[in-house]
Amino acid sequence: MGALTARASLRGTASVPGDKSIAHRALLLSALAEGESLIQGLPSGADVLATRDCLRELGISISEAAADGSVRVHGKGLSGLRTPRRVLDCRNSGTTARLLCGVLSAQRFSSSLDGDASLRGRPMARVVDPLRDMGSVIDYLEIEGRLPLRIDGARLPFTLHKPEVASAQVKSALLLASLAAGSGCRLLEAVPTRDHSERMLQYMGSGLSCEAGLIELPPGARLQACELSLPGDISSASFLIAAALLLPGSELLLRDVGVNPGRCGFIETLIEMGADITLENQRLVCGEPLAEIRVRSSSLHATRIQGKSIPGIIDELPLLALLASQAAGTTEVRDAAELRLKESDRIESTAAMLAALGVACETLPDGFVVSGRQTLHGGQVDSRGDHRIAMTAVVASLLTDDAVEISDEQCIVVSFPGFRDEITRLVN
Ligand code: S3P
Repeated sequence: MGALTARASLRGTASVPGDKSIAHRALLLSALAEGESLIQGLPSGADVLATRDCLRELGISISEAAADGSVRVHGKGLSGLRTPRRVLDCRNSGTTARLLCGVLSAQRFSSSLDGDASLRGRPMARVVDPLRDMGSVIDYLEIEGRLPLRIDGARLPFTLHKPEVASAQVKSALLLASLAAGSGCRLLEAVPTRDHSERMLQYMGSGLSCEAGLIELPPGARLQACELSLPGDISSASFLIAAALLLPGSELLLRDVGVNPGRCGFIETLIEMGADITLENQRLVCGEPLAEIRVRSSSLHATRIQGKSIPGIIDELPLLALLASQAAGTTEVRDAAELRLKESDRIESTAAMLAALGVACETLPDGFVVSGRQTLHGGQVDSRGDHRIAMTAVVASLLTDDAVEISDEQCIVVSFPGFRDEITRLVN
């Protein structure tokens, strides 16, 4: 391990907020189901609240969280949404915008979607083009390929999709459009991406099947309201895992974390790098695999990540760059140009964050190279309003006795409100 100046370790047991990706789907699918669903463990991060508030604007009644954290959604079936009275504001959430494009493409009314400055800069053509091919009428209101946009829903036919981008958001948008249209679809996925939508659609009785990259949603599929219990978010857990690995003498137990194979690239990569991580008590809850994750501080060595492994670790790559800077050897990440299209250009924002703390990271068009055993010092990090960059910088700050200042650290509320308090509680 590199020359760690901090003397603290991270010890104890923790839980993380419910899974953000799964939460968006739980809200959307419950809204399209018939009757009342109960969602346990819905996270209160700003992205999930954006989906909740858009659905409320579409006429769906969603309760505030009860004392036990559960939320009730009064589903109105596949054609029960009402015309929104105002523009649907997806705020910072790409998943909200892209999945809603799918749902709204099959409605009998028109709607408009917008987002904050970061989301307005992110590509929408990846969902708009295939939805237009299905028959939906979608117009960009300001800049080609970007939010804001207007959707005039249409009758969508049964379609065979072969998405060009390896993206769970695109896949899910197409599944949702075909579901809401009642038309069904067949979707061929060349590179596997997280399969939360497929699992939840199956769990809610749609009759969806998946085999060897072929997903089939039957025509006329309907959803049954149900109780959904969400696992802890592995992407949020990853920041605590990284801190435990990097701080000597650490031992952390994370309870009830989702370990969907499509999301475990970070854990698998770390184990290959020599990390002492074990998954305990693995089980299936509401169709999603869960486990307790035990982590002990470890001496890591470098790795190379590329090709089909990228979607399973995409959200954790900024954090992996930090870990790589403390490992033995040089780590290279390739085939990850998608990083440039996230809440910030995460190739540039990761390199700039590390540079501010004295760590060199060479950027590539589709990834980065980081040599290990670098010494971190304090500095001023520009989070660029990106929650994952800000949380990586908080973990980095534990490796130096110098001050690390993070601009707009508040953006962490997008996925993990209370993150700094939680990590501070565990560090001793
Ligand atoms: C997500 C899928 C991923 C991920 C994003 C959430 C989802 O994006 O980066 O944070 O919930 O489907 P892509 O599907 O665009 O790769």
